[in-house]
Amino acid sequence: SAAEKGGYDSFMLKEIAEQPRAVADTLLGRVDAEGALTLDEVRIPVPELRAVEKVVVVACGTAFHAGLIAKYAIEHWTRVPCEVELASEFRYRDPILDRRSLVVAISQSGETMDTLMAVRHAREQGAKVLAICNTNGSTIPRESDAVLYTHAGPEVAVASTKAFLTQLVACYLVALYLGQARGTTWGDEIRAVIRDLAGIPDALERLLATMEPVRALARSLAGQDTVLFLGRHVGYPVALEGALKLKELAYMHAEGFAAGELKHGPIALVERDLPVVVVVPSPRGRSVLHGKIVSNIQEIRARGARTVVIAEEGDEAVVPYADHLVRIPAVPTLLQPLVATVPLQVFACELATARGNEVDQPRNLAKSVTVE
Ligand code: G6P
Repeated sequence: SAAEKGGYDSFMLKEIAEQPRAVADTLLGRVDAEGALTLDEVRIPVPELRAVEKVVVVACGTAFHAGLIAKYAIEHWTRVPCEVELASEFRYRDPILDRRSLVVAISQSGETMDTLMAVRHAREQGAKVLAICNTNGSTIPRESDAVLYTHAGPEVAVASTKAFLTQLVACYLVALYLGQARGTTWGDEIRAVIRDLAGIPDALERLLATMEPVRALARSLAGQDTVLFLGRHVGYPVALEGALKLKELAYMHAEGFAAGELKHGPIALVERDLPVVVVVPSPRGRSVLHGKIVSNIQEIRARGARTVVIAEEGDEAVVPYADHLVRIPAVPTLLQPLVATVPLQVFACELATARGNEVDQPRNLAKSVTVE
């Protein structure tokens, strides 16, 4: 009903708007008086966390994209090798697992059969399983060794939005916690990241207030057949998520690519007026990647593409090559997906509506898929 949607036209729009609160709630109570990270729910003893030799993240759909981003954070803060695998592929390749493997299963519903089967397989091999889940008491956390709950609140729209952002927060917390346990990340750095994370809800509020041009752009592209998405580093999974949203909601051909791969194939797809959304890394810090992606934008624009550039505030280098410029708040590189994903959610939602689609209940999809 309209009341349940809180005045929004769809649950998806409502849930997009709830993201600042969802992120804040997921961060609540994670730090003790000394500033150390306390993930009490993670009942895996510290000596076992220290003994972990590899981390494997398993998930499906949007949660898989959170896992792809988790890899960057986990390897950065823990220096433990991390693999990410689609849950539906995982057990069928007979993965190498033992008691020193930590499997992180990410699932909003906690009921996705593919992910559950991956969890069962991992535990049979002796691996420890940590679930990241949004649904209290659901099957995946019940069958895992430990669980870190996201506090997105109930997510009704089939396409995941606020749950995704909170999954990212949980992944950052797990990476820092592992780093803290193993001594690869120090108190000062953890406190700094927690401070940065604590600033994200306000950044999201500001960002959400600037989405009107993104909506107008989406409506103007409703007649297109294809949209490409490019990103690199943590922006690559963001590009995949932008493309998935467009497929799910707008029923359009949408593909996400790693920008460095453009020259190895995807550039052949670029033709006049093709919309290409580019997620630009911060020009600070990893400026090498920034320069490379600016070259990519120039290359596709020279071939007539319509460039939709998602770039942080103050990034002036992209301005000459952006047909449409979407500004996102400047945040540390690893955290950028928390802000960069939001315009892509709004874009897909509005484009779907402009095409006459039902955004909360896309055709052929289910909120939680309980068959393999
Ligand atoms: C379904 C939904 C997706 C979701 C995926 C994983 O396919 O349509 O939006 O990302 O399942 O769901 P989970 O509950 O495991 O996160």
